[in-house]
Amino acid sequence: MFCKPLYMALRSVLDGLMLYGIDIDEKGCLYSPVLVWNWYQEQPAIMNVKSPETTAGEILLAMRSGCNRTQPVTLTSIDHDKYFLPPEYTQLYYSPVWADLDTAQRLRYTQLYALRTNEVIMLFERYLVEAILPPIAERLANMQMPSLRQLVLETLREERDHDAMFVSLNRASRPDLYRAADFFFFPPSPEVRRFVTTMGWLSRWCAYPLWLLFFIEESSLAMARELAKLERQHGGNAVESNWLAVHLEHTHDERRHTLIDRLLFDSCYARRSATTRRLDGWLFSRTLKAMMFPRARGAGVRVVEQLIRDYPELASLRATMVREIVALGQNPDFLASIMSQRLAPRAWKLFHRCPELNGLANWLPGYA
Ligand SMILES: [Fe+2]
Ligand SMILES: [Fe+2]
Repeated sequence: MFCKPLYMALRSVLDGLMLYGIDIDEKGCLYSPVLVWNWYQEQPAIMNVKSPETTAGEILLAMRSGCNRTQPVTLTSIDHDKYFLPPEYTQLYYSPVWADLDTAQRLRYTQLYALRTNEVIMLFERYLVEAILPPIAERLANMQMPSLRQLVLETLREERDHDAMFVSLNRASRPDLYRAADFFFFPPSPEVRRFVTTMGWLSRWCAYPLWLLFFIEESSLAMARELAKLERQHGGNAVESNWLAVHLEHTHDERRHTLIDRLLFDSCYARRSATTRRLDGWLFSRTLKAMMFPRARGAGVRVVEQLIRDYPELASLRATMVREIVALGQNPDFLASIMSQRLAPRAWKLFHRCPELNGLANWLPGYA
């Protein structure tokens, strides 16, 4: 007879193995709420699992014990001979013109693109999180879910710290670019701010802003993992130490945030109307496309323009670079480098449980 306690024990062991397989930089603390959460999300309703509020209470307890929380990183001088991010996280890596760049130019381009990637993370942490989490916290207060609400408020505070950490890292890496402002490649235009404000307003009914947050947060874990892998592959001499430290440290809070995202989805969005679901499916697909498909006047092209300012001999390649960057919207390998099951497995799994997102299979490689 396959009894529930035995099943739970087996699941916990398997989930623990999976946890260590996909996570990085554990400090010897088995994060039990992760197991609880995995258990919670995997089980059929008949197994009478814990509620999101109970799970939130357990996560709060673990937080108060001091486990797995992001700490400030004291920056030292930046080594510009090393990678800030793996080249696979850039645009030009997937373009034919990559072959025309020499080693120093590739390294500089990858570093500039890494600054732009930090700016994207900052954009989400500074604007999207501030737009969608306060209304969700208000909703949880009305739903009598104090523990989950407390986790949301903690997340807001943590994201402000992360934002400051990435600002400092970018400024230390290229003080000439960040003397006047925190954003150089991705300045939040009025259009972007309106877009984010709208998402915050719609998050009272629609799940797509939370899906986006879940995807971004889980992707940041994968990015840190790939950075650590690059460092290991090159015998500990490839990745800039401040960048490695900041991105690894960031994962401690983000790992927990992905658990909270899932609890929020189940608590606030699982029972949306059919009309809202259709709207969610349409808005999520459009938002993802806006984020993933490069544009001729987008942040990726601004990275190329800075590369040309750093290496003026590349000016003759400018038109080619722009053309090839825009063409990446049709490149499955590039699109998969931004969003895939490998990068965000838990978000990917949740998306597949939402039939309103089936249309992603029409354009997102590997989604079907
Ligand atoms: Fe963060
Ligand atoms: Fe986060």
